[in-house]
Amino acid sequence: MKGKSFPARFISFEGIDGCGKSTLMDGLSRWLDEAGIHSIRTREPGGTPMGESVRELLLDPAYKGMNQQAEVLLYTASRAQLVDEVIRPALEKGIWVLTDRYIDATLAYQGYGRGLDLAILRRLQDWATGGLWPDRTILLDCDLDTAMLRMRGRNSRPDRMELETRAFHQRVRDGYLALAAEEPDRILIMDASKSVEEVAEDLHAALRRASMF
Ligand code: TMP
Repeated sequence: MKGKSFPARFISFEGIDGCGKSTLMDGLSRWLDEAGIHSIRTREPGGTPMGESVRELLLDPAYKGMNQQAEVLLYTASRAQLVDEVIRPALEKGIWVLTDRYIDATLAYQGYGRGLDLAILRRLQDWATGGLWPDRTILLDCDLDTAMLRMRGRNSRPDRMELETRAFHQRVRDGYLALAAEEPDRILIMDASKSVEEVAEDLHAALRRASMF
């Protein structure tokens, strides 16, 4: 395998719904491929057969009244399975892992969005993942109007989380920014209101600055 000189990196992508994570991840996957770096891509909730079933439960608008603690535990159950079945084995083989959402999503959505205790959430995440935090987290940040416009452009029916109020999504955005302010070395903020090409350039420059290559 080429790219052996790089230790396997674990990178998560975060942001409010509609911020453009998928497109940026496509670009980074292609770029790593061209650089001869073996990587896999996964997502949360989901990424394993069990996790994908849990994802259906979590996003189904039929469960609008889901209990908040039950919600956290379901997201966390999907994550525990993903770490055990996919992420840790890949990293141990020297394969980079790119994940569409991880622990910070629980802190932003359930912590800042729902108002659940952040200290409890952090302890739960440490326990569920065996303390596996990402090397770097790419936070795609844009305002709610931009994100909502992009979501509408997708033309699919909104899921249970997307149906949440504007105030909820604003708290999530503010929460992500607060998390990034606490850990500026790990969480790198990208201005997602820029064009796809510009954001991709910013990402490459940020990863180089962070000595990821
Ligand atoms: P996705 O649409 O980006 O795949 O994410 C699914 C939704 O679930 C999205 O609205 C964010 C939300 N979410 C949480 O609320 N908590 C979590 O821990 C995760 C991973 C996602």
